[in-house]
Amino acid sequence: MRVVQNPAKLQTALARLKRQDKKIGFVPTMGYLHEGHLSLVRLARKENDVVVASIFVNPLQFGPREDFKRYPRDFPRDARLLKKEKADFLLAPAAEEFYPKDFQTEVKVTRLSGRLCGASRPAHFAGVCTVVLKLLNIVKPDRLYLGQKDYQQVQVIGQMIKDLGFSVMIRMAPIVREPDGLAMSSRNVLLSKKEREEAPCLHRALCEGARLVKRGVRDAGGLQKPMREILKRAASARVDYLEIVDVRTLRPVVKLKKGQKALLTGAVFFKKTRLIDNELVRV
Ligand code: PAJ
Repeated sequence: MRVVQNPAKLQTALARLKRQDKKIGFVPTMGYLHEGHLSLVRLARKENDVVVASIFVNPLQFGPREDFKRYPRDFPRDARLLKKEKADFLLAPAAEEFYPKDFQTEVKVTRLSGRLCGASRPAHFAGVCTVVLKLLNIVKPDRLYLGQKDYQQVQVIGQMIKDLGFSVMIRMAPIVREPDGLAMSSRNVLLSKKEREEAPCLHRALCEGARLVKRGVRDAGGLQKPMREILKRAASARVDYLEIVDVRTLRPVVKLKKGQKALLTGAVFFKKTRLIDNELVRV
């Protein structure tokens, strides 16, 4: 595996491979890798000739009071893990070069970015879109690998790709979980012992919602109440949102219809640490 800091160098190396018609899979990350990230790398490895991963803790997608400084980092370990998964290139740009002082462009997907996570993190998705578009421009992959854990991120990036006419295929991979159901996240290490014990409540609440849908409950209120009850029992959890939304528009669904696909999704604060999770359901 080749570790590259300079985007232009990566482009030169990739251009040669593209001329040989090699298919390129790209896995963007912010590092502190876990099995969720690695599942994306494995899928990319299976489906492409060349695998490019990136590690960049993108300051643009953190709000002023969020955890950019606290965000966990361990580059040597990450590089080892990616090498073991046989990634071909690891792009790890330096922030000062990636965003020089006169950087002033912002890419914004308007409506989708305002819902769910975007309601409590107003600048988040513009930060995500800006960095992802810049990375896509460098790598120009055939396939882009994203996790269902950040379902809204997948939808927002998909909309950006469609609106701007990029020709890259998005591959969404399922959520990888800890044995107790907690969705793997780089942020899980920021939880205290008690918070970590209570953190699976979000997954439990979403599973209860999915179970009730299977049992015939159709109205959002009837689903949300028992889900919220589960979260209430976790003393350290504070709900940011808990919603049933349409899988495409991400707008709240009041009553589920037969055949409809919906997303049960939630975000919960444990003190300053905010965790998200979701379950896809089909009525
Ligand atoms: P990061 O949180 O590091 O996640 C990188 C990718 O791993 C994302 O596509 C995310 O959905 C996926 N992922 C995280 N946890 C997962 C889990 N438990 N199971 C499956 N996939 C999981 O998402 C970002 O970084 C950034 O916003 C980024 C797209 C890199 C732009 O900065």
